[in-house]
Parts: sequence; C-alpha cells; structure tokens
Amino acid sequence: HNHVDHATPDKVQAAIAAGDTHPHVPDYEGFDAYRAAGGYQTLERLRESGDWEQVQEQVLASGLRGLGGAGFPSGKKWGFVRANPGPRYLAVNGDEGEPGTFKDRYYLERTPHLFLEGMLIAAWAVEAETCFIYMRDEYPAVLEILRREIVALERSGIVPADYIDLRRGAGAYICGEESAMIESIEGKRGLPRHRPPYVAQVGVFRRPTLVHNVETLHWVARVCREGPEVLNATRKNGRTGLRSFSVSGRVAKPGVYLLPAGSTIRDVIDAAGGMAEGHAFKAYQPGGPSSGLLPASLDDVPLDFDTLQPHGSFIGSAAVVVLSDKDSARAAALNMLRFFEDESCGQCTPCRVGCEKAVKLMQADHWDQPLLEELCTAMADASICGLGQAAPNPIRLTMQHFADEIVAPGTPNPDGYGTEQAMERR
Ligand code: NAI
Ligand code: SF4
Repeated sequence: HNHVDHATPDKVQAAIAAGDTHPHVPDYEGFDAYRAAGGYQTLERLRESGDWEQVQEQVLASGLRGLGGAGFPSGKKWGFVRANPGPRYLAVNGDEGEPGTFKDRYYLERTPHLFLEGMLIAAWAVEAETCFIYMRDEYPAVLEILRREIVALERSGIVPADYIDLRRGAGAYICGEESAMIESIEGKRGLPRHRPPYVAQVGVFRRPTLVHNVETLHWVARVCREGPEVLNATRKNGRTGLRSFSVSGRVAKPGVYLLPAGSTIRDVIDAAGGMAEGHAFKAYQPGGPSSGLLPASLDDVPLDFDTLQPHGSFIGSAAVVVLSDKDSARAAALNMLRFFEDESCGQCTPCRVGCEKAVKLMQADHWDQPLLEELCTAMADASICGLGQAAPNPIRLTMQHFADEIVAPGTPNPDGYGTEQAMERR
C-alpha cells in the first residue's frame, strides 16, 4: 500500500460512531436467523439416528467434487479417512489463495452457517475429535464472522467449547496446499509433504484427517438438507452440477456467479454482464494462474473438471479472469510466473530455481522457446507439489496460443517452436 490514510483519534472516533469499524462486517445470516429457518436440524437428525454411509451415498450421488480445485469426489474421502483408526480430525482449507478466487469469501460473508453445518456433518461422518478451520488472514471480516458465530454455536450447545479451532493463515500461498496447511496448523513452517501417505492417513498431528474446502462443505449441508438433486439435477453441454465462478478482469460486472458446470467462457462472460465497455474478448484464465491462459477461440469448451485437460489446462477453483485486446498475454504470463517465484516455498530445486529462471527467460524480448519447454518439463515432472507442477502452464499455453507476442518485433521466430526440427532439437 503506497497510500496510508493516517487515522487520527478524531477519525477513529467518528468511524466508530458511524458504525464503520475495521473490519467492515457485511450483513449476513447469523445463528438465530439460520436456526429459525430450520438450520442445524439436519445435523441433529443425523447425530440422533443417522447412518454415515447413507449420507456418504447421498453426497456421492450428488456428484459433489472438491471445490478447492482438484475435484476429488468428496464422499470418497470420508471412506478413506474412516478406514484409519481414530482419533481423527477435520481440517477446513479456507486459505483461498489462488489469485482471482473469492467464492469462499462470498459464501462465508453471506451464509456462514451453511458452511459450519456442512463442516459439522462431515465431522460427524468421520467422527472427528476436533475441527480446525484454517482461514486466511486477508479476510478479516470472515474471521470476525466466524469468531462470533462459533461462540453462538458453543452457547447453543450444538458444539462443545473448543471443538472448533479457528486458525489464521499468515499470507503464504503455499499454506493453501493441504499438507503445507497441516504443517502450518501444527505450528511449523508451511512446507508441502511428500505423498503418499495421504492426509487421510497421516494428517494433523499425524492423525487421519479429512480436508475439505469451504465451498465443498457449504454444498455438503445443502445436499444433506435438500437432497442430491440440488446439484445433480442441473445438466448442460453433457456436464452435471453447478460451479461457483469467481469472475474478474475485463467484464462489466465482476463477481461470483453460480452457473451450470457445463458453462462455456461465453456463458460466464454473459453472466458477468458482458465485456466491459470498449474491450474485446481476447483470452481467459479459467482457474487462476495455475491453469494458464487460453485464447478466445477456445470458447465452446465446458469449464468443468476434466474438460480442459485436452487443452493443457484445468478449471481448478474456477477463478475466471477475462483479458481483452487491451491486455498483453505475455505480460500476464510473466506476472503469473513472478507470483509463483515469490510464493515458491523453496523446498525443491525444480520449482525454486525453475520459477526464477523462467521469469528471466520470459523477460527477454524474444522467448527461448526450446529452453523454456525443457524447463517446463523438468518443473512439471520433478516438483514436489502442485505449485511447481502447474507453474509451467502459463508458459506453455502462451507459447502455444500467443506465439506472435513472444518474438522480438519484426523477427521471425527462429526457434520454430512446435516444428519438427524444434522437437528433434529437444
Ligand atoms: P490432488 O489431486 O493431489 O488432491 C486432491 C485431494 O484428494 C486432496 O485432499 C488429497 O489428499 C486427496 N486424494 C487424492 N488422491 C488420494 C488418495 N489416493 N487417497 C486419499 N486421498 C487422496 O490435488 P491438490 O494438489 O490437493 O490440489 C490441486 C488443485 O488445487 C488445483 O486444481 C488448483 O486449482 C487448486 N488450487 C486452489 C487454490 C484455491 O485458492 N482454492 C489455490 C491453489 C491451488
Ligand atoms: Fe515448494 Fe515449489 Fe517444491 Fe511445492 S513445488 S514443495 S512450492 S519448492
């Protein structure tokens, strides 16, 4: 922040008097309103006479997949965790660090108890002894809401005191990687672990741990209350379900849009009020920088799990950033790699050194494409975690789709990227 608004005591007093305190907490559905509308009855019913396997079947039937971005079938995880002897834990990933992703925040600032009930249902299903919520510190209003509402839950007797342990992240992107998050919860530096063993076997304090993203749990509550149809009744372009797109960039109305999972980028832009005035659609990032950049010509692909793989990308957390004719794809790709360079935990060489080298190579007027491709292969193949494995995506997709931007002006591309000679050289 370059500009600092020095808050004089007068200003602070005036702000407090006006009810405008930091953080500014938006209006949301609090405990009493949620309870009055039937909230927590599903949890109570399940705790009294529920069969966890039936609930798991419902969740599986709904098609709910991990909405942090990996899309792992949510119900399956419950079985993996339960297969290991207790004590077991549940850890919620609320780190939401993928640039452009703000859907978890959107739901938490509106209906925090849907998330909390979903969390308690999942905790019941795996008999978790404690629920850790790892929430990013950059969401002060969310932290305030959760603090208040956890107290309300404890006072109501729905959870015992200290059953929910709210932890604050400290601004490291890597702490959203689930095993790094677990290290951080344990009070250590957030370094990703090798897998296997998966966190379902060896998680927080080496106990079997169920890890879910915030939005996933929001949907667990809705599926258990409204039935699997709440998700699986929506069909579009051969895909089933709903997706919360965080839409930003050159659109008229950035925001979170709940759309069918089979939606294309054209549907997403339409939902966001079309392109911003004076901007023509050029490119898009479907799921944060990890998913790279796709050209506007790929506008008929459903933006769902699995459908973008053939194009070298993935939907991830559905953080759609729209670029226009006023933007440079190469500058955007360089920006993404700078982000990865900053956020790499430095634990493994392919990622730590690879991101740094990639940034240097991408700053040249003319990209050395064969060398960049070699670097991408090493990073994707040999990095320990998803950060280093996905960092090559923006490089590769920019070389593939925006070749004219990465050669020095007036120079034909001497590397002949994509030609047979170039492949042989590699
Ligand atoms: P992953 O595919 O390795 O794992 C997904 C989940 O399934 C994990 O909880 C893992 O423990 C579990 N799992 C997978 N195989 C298993 C097995 N055989 N047994 C037991 N459990 C198993 O994916 P990862 O690296 O956790 O997530 C990558 C995604 O995260 C990307 O798609 C990326 O878009 C997204 N992401 C989201 C961010 C956000 O802010 N929401 C930030 C950064 C990345
Ligand atoms: Fe750390 Fe990058 Fe290696 Fe992941 S890939 S463990 S972020 S150095």
